[in-house]
Amino acid sequence: MSDEYKAYEHEDADAEQQSLLPEPAPTKQRPSRLRVYGPLSLSFVGGILACLAAQLVVCGPSCFSATSHDSGALAPPYVGSTEVHHFPPPSPTNAFPSLFPTHVGYAGGTPTGAEPAVVATAPSYPIHSGAPHLVAPASSTASSGFDLFKKWGNLSPWYSVGRGAFGIDSGPEAPETCRITGLHFLHRHGARYPTSWASYGGPAFLAKRLNDAAAQWNATGDLAFLNEWTYKLGEEILTPFGRQQLYDLGVSIRMKYGFLLKNFTETNTIPVFRTESQDRMLASALNFAIGFFGYPFEGQYQESITIEAEGFNNTLAPYKTCPNARLPSKSDRALPYVSEWASIYLASALARLQPQIPGYELTIEDVYTLQQMCAYETVAIGYSAFCELFTQEEWEGFSYAMDLYFWYDSAFGSPVAKVQGVGYLQELVARLTHTPIALHNSSTNATLADDPVTFPLNQSLYVDATHEVVVLNVITALNLTTLARDGPLPATHIPPNRSFVVSQLAPFATNVQFQLLSCASSPDPQIRVIINDGVVPLTGIRGCPSQKDGMCPVDVFVDAQREIIKETEWEWGCYGEWEVPAGTAWNTTTGEPPRRGEV
Ligand SMILES: *[C@@H]1O[C@H](CO)[C@@H](O)[C@H](O)[C@H]1NC(C)=O
Ligand SMILES: *[C@@H]1O[C@H](CO)[C@@H](O)[C@H](O)[C@H]1NC(C)=O
Ligand SMILES: *[C@@H]1O[C@H](CO)[C@@H](O)[C@H](O)[C@H]1NC(C)=O
Ligand SMILES: *[C@@H]1O[C@H](CO)[C@@H](O)[C@H](O)[C@H]1NC(C)=O
Ligand SMILES: *[C@@H]1O[C@H](CO)[C@@H](O)[C@H](O)[C@H]1NC(C)=O
Ligand SMILES: *[C@@H]1O[C@H](CO)[C@@H](O)[C@H](O)[C@H]1NC(C)=O
Ligand SMILES: *[C@@H]1O[C@H](CO)[C@@H](O)[C@H](O)[C@H]1NC(C)=O
Ligand SMILES: *[C@@H]1O[C@H](CO)[C@@H](O)[C@H](O)[C@H]1NC(C)=O
Ligand SMILES: *[C@@H]1O[C@H](CO)[C@@H](O)[C@H](O)[C@H]1NC(C)=O
Repeated sequence: MSDEYKAYEHEDADAEQQSLLPEPAPTKQRPSRLRVYGPLSLSFVGGILACLAAQLVVCGPSCFSATSHDSGALAPPYVGSTEVHHFPPPSPTNAFPSLFPTHVGYAGGTPTGAEPAVVATAPSYPIHSGAPHLVAPASSTASSGFDLFKKWGNLSPWYSVGRGAFGIDSGPEAPETCRITGLHFLHRHGARYPTSWASYGGPAFLAKRLNDAAAQWNATGDLAFLNEWTYKLGEEILTPFGRQQLYDLGVSIRMKYGFLLKNFTETNTIPVFRTESQDRMLASALNFAIGFFGYPFEGQYQESITIEAEGFNNTLAPYKTCPNARLPSKSDRALPYVSEWASIYLASALARLQPQIPGYELTIEDVYTLQQMCAYETVAIGYSAFCELFTQEEWEGFSYAMDLYFWYDSAFGSPVAKVQGVGYLQELVARLTHTPIALHNSSTNATLADDPVTFPLNQSLYVDATHEVVVLNVITALNLTTLARDGPLPATHIPPNRSFVVSQLAPFATNVQFQLLSCASSPDPQIRVIINDGVVPLTGIRGCPSQKDGMCPVDVFVDAQREIIKETEWEWGCYGEWEVPAGTAWNTTTGEPPRRGEV
């Protein structure tokens, strides 16, 4: 499970992980689930056990599975059956950079042309579908209309959701008589390896369990491939496919909105985009930049790399300064829902798979993790045998498990969603009104935001990179209430026709276009919100009219967002001593904690 913010404990673990990686890298040897990499990994396994023992003493058996937020003390779950290829080698013998200069001159002519403007000029809007380079099992396409890649929640590659997906029969192209005057673009990083921390499931943990018990089991039938299988996933960083997603996204935004660069040329400025220090965040932003600006992008824009680490105010990583968002009792509402639902939709899969791995007792969580393994392996290495193990219905179940998780973890069902989204709203309002943030009392960072160079307020194009949990926090804070129509989501069944689908809202490279328009039909500038190419109704936002293309006057939108900012209290949400009972005994559908006095 993704859970970006719960990885917060792991900063210090990074160095440790590097030094503990088993070595030497496996080459030609036949992969074996029993292989152990010499003394280093033996002592390493000992380390894991010692850590585990310490954990168990401190907080009991639950530490390792569901409820721990203090898992940073755990060593990473690299195990004997892990396969790691260390590329590049640290000191290649043939590396002579001076013989391979980067700038040799003689570039030939370099005249440039006009900027593309597909949103304004083309008769239709280009749709993003499929996932080039990834292979799905043939069986998954058996029934027409079923697309396995759309059933992985936050692990799905992003796709155009389709006209009308959120209830507005309009496309992202400029409505008739309207001109697009600006774009505020918020996107997620691309496909990555699993995060080091998982609240439920977690491919590396399953790999370790299987390996630890390797002497006891032999798999047969559909699971026979496990006998030879090795764990090939790293942690946290972008996969090659993830790189491509961001490169493509950069190209696509240049094709659609390149004309907005004219504003910069006119004012003799270059754009400032933002991302964060985390490896996959920075790599995503730079891949986007290569797609958008081309290589070399130096001199064409400036990237503000905000720090994602404990104690740093950062609207793109608000959990770093919001303690309540990291307290299990306040933020771990999702797990009981996911495990209850998993025990329902995976019951027959468990019964089917258990006989094929005698000697190892599969749990529901294991079977759920086999589904995660399918998604993670596919986006990392292009194909996964795990995908073949499940029926379409079980994939619908997995998709809904993801919806449940993120609903209660990061969106309308979480008591800390709105408060975490509000910092980005403050920045959005500042940019929309060209007025600096008056009061820094959320996750905003005055050092950066009060300086017009690092946080300009008059650009025609803004690009911000963040995590899926933050995109969901922002969607919640914005009050896009039509997406919350079916909440609170039940753990017992999939509601028909639901509006909150994580693969549509927060997949890898998910993206939100806040589009600014000027229309002949109205004197007031208009704004629309477009998530993964689907226009979202703004009718939940106070004062926004029911408009066929989903537009709302910017002033009205801004007034409502100011209202939301005013009624949200960072201090109370992030530091307040409120309590909420687990499960359905307390519900929110607005992503808010109980009010003062209610607890
Ligand atoms: C599904 O939801 C949409 C709103 O997004 C609504 O227009 C439609 O009528 C619903 N369909 C069914 C079958 O309930
Ligand atoms: C698994 O199969 C191998 C090779 O056939 C055999 O040596 C081993 O004893 C088997 N293990 C179990 C637990 O059945
Ligand atoms: C934005 O404001 C800065 C100074 O605050 C100015 O130098 C620049 O020209 C302005 N850019 C645009 C696009 O208006
Ligand atoms: C604001 O951001 C800057 C640059 O990343 C950083 O140096 C500073 O510590 C941050 N301030 C706070 C209060 O987090
Ligand atoms: C960081 O956030 C805290 C809490 O909202 C705020 O009091 C402080 O002023 C912020 N610091 C900066 C430099 O923005
Ligand atoms: C960008 O330029 C266009 C055309 O000149 C103009 O309509 C629009 O308002 C400008 N946008 C911004 C944010 O300055
Ligand atoms: C919370 O929502 C569930 C439906 O998912 C409902 O059964 C329950 O009664 C609600 N609880 C409260 C306190 O409203
Ligand atoms: C937010 O949504 C709720 C429910 O639709 C609505 O009652 C409220 O007025 C909205 N608030 C604002 C400021 O848009
Ligand atoms: C910031 O302070 C104002 C004024 O005290 C308050 O109304 C608002 O709720 C606060 N905003 C946040 C996000 O805490």
